[in-house]
Amino acid sequence: MIYLDNAATSYPKPKGMVAAMEECIFKYCGNPGRSGHSMSMKTGEEVYHARRKVARLFGIEQPERLVFTKNTTEALNMGLKGVLRPGDHVVTTSMEHNSMLRPLKALEKRGVTQSVIRADRDGFIRASDIEKAIRPATRLIAVTAASNVTGTKMPLTDIGEIAGKRGIMFLVDGAQGAGSMDIDVEKMHINMLAFPGHKGLLGPLGTGALYISPDLRLNHIMEGGTGTDSKSRIQPCEFPEGYEAGTINAPAIIGMGYSAEFVDKIGPEVIGKYEEELISWLDERLDEMDFVTRYGPGACRKTGISLINIRDVPAEEATSILSSKYGIAVRGGFHCAGLAHKTIGTWDEGAVRISVGPFNTRRDMEKLLDAIKDIGSNSP
Ligand code: ALA
Repeated sequence: MIYLDNAATSYPKPKGMVAAMEECIFKYCGNPGRSGHSMSMKTGEEVYHARRKVARLFGIEQPERLVFTKNTTEALNMGLKGVLRPGDHVVTTSMEHNSMLRPLKALEKRGVTQSVIRADRDGFIRASDIEKAIRPATRLIAVTAASNVTGTKMPLTDIGEIAGKRGIMFLVDGAQGAGSMDIDVEKMHINMLAFPGHKGLLGPLGTGALYISPDLRLNHIMEGGTGTDSKSRIQPCEFPEGYEAGTINAPAIIGMGYSAEFVDKIGPEVIGKYEEELISWLDERLDEMDFVTRYGPGACRKTGISLINIRDVPAEEATSILSSKYGIAVRGGFHCAGLAHKTIGTWDEGAVRISVGPFNTRRDMEKLLDAIKDIGSNSP
C-alpha cells in the first residue's frame, strides 16, 4: 500500500521505536511510580527520559509540565476544561478540528463564550482579526498550528505576541504541525500545547501530551491514583503525576520518546521542508488536470497536505477506489472538521485529503497522479 494518510496517523514508524517498546514489554515493564522494585523503577526512569526527549522538541524548559495523554483530543479537553471558568471568553478560529470546537461548545453550558474568527477560503487567519475579537473577558486564544483539512499554517508567532502583550492565555493545537513545524513554547508565548505522539512525532497510536506553562493553574478533569499521597482523598496537584491519574501506557510513551528523539535529530523544519517539496511537486501537476479541483494555499504556506476533488467522483468514492483499485491510502469526507470545510467551500461534497510523511517519495506521488488521471478520465 502507498500510505498517504499521515495527517490521520503516520506510517511507517521508525524501526527503533518498535525495538524500544519491545524491550520495555519483554524486559522490565513494571508499573512506574507505584513500587520500589527494580522493574517499576526502570519503567519510571524510561518514562522520565521519554518526557525529556519530547519536551526538548518544543523548547519546554520544565519537562514535568508535560502531561502524557492518550491523544490530542484528551489533551485539549484537559487544557480547555482545566483553565476556563464561567464568564470567560475565548477567541478561536473556523479552521479548528472538532477536538477544539466540541469541548468549547460544551463549555457554553458552563458560561464560557467564544468568538470564532472566520478564515479566508485558503484557511488563513490574520493575527489582527484575532486581536480585534479580544474583549475584556477574553482569557484564552485557542488555535490550531495548522489545519488538518487544508494544512494551512497559522501565524503562531504573531498570535502569541498578541496574547503575551495582552496577558491572555494561548493554547495551540499541534495535531498537524508538531514534528514538521518549528514550534517553540517559549519563543511563541504558548501557555498550553496539545499534540499527538502518533502523527508527526512518528510514535505509536494512543499517545499524546499537553504542555502547561509554569504560571498556569490547571483544574483536574480526572481524579484517581497517582502513586503519591495515597492516604489523601484529595487529588494531588503536582506535575506530572497529579494529571496522569491511573496507570499510564508506559511502553507507548517510551516509543513516543524514541520517535521524538528521531524527529529531533533530523529536525522538524527539515522534515517539513521535505514534505513541502513533495506536495509542491504534486500540487503543480494536480493544477494542470482540468478534472481536479484543488483547495487551500500553495505548498510553502501549509503542512504536507493536498486537498482535492475529482470531477463527478464523490470524495468518499474516490477514496475507496484509490484504496481498492490502486492500493493508495488517503482520507475522504469531512475530516472531523465540518466548519473548516464550510470555510473553504466544500461543506456539501467534502474532499479527498492526501497527506505525506517523511518516508514518502516522489515515486509515491507519481503513482498517485497516475491513479488520479485514470479515475478522472474514466469518470462519467
Ligand atoms: N484528526 C485526524 C485527521 O485529521 C484523525 O484525520
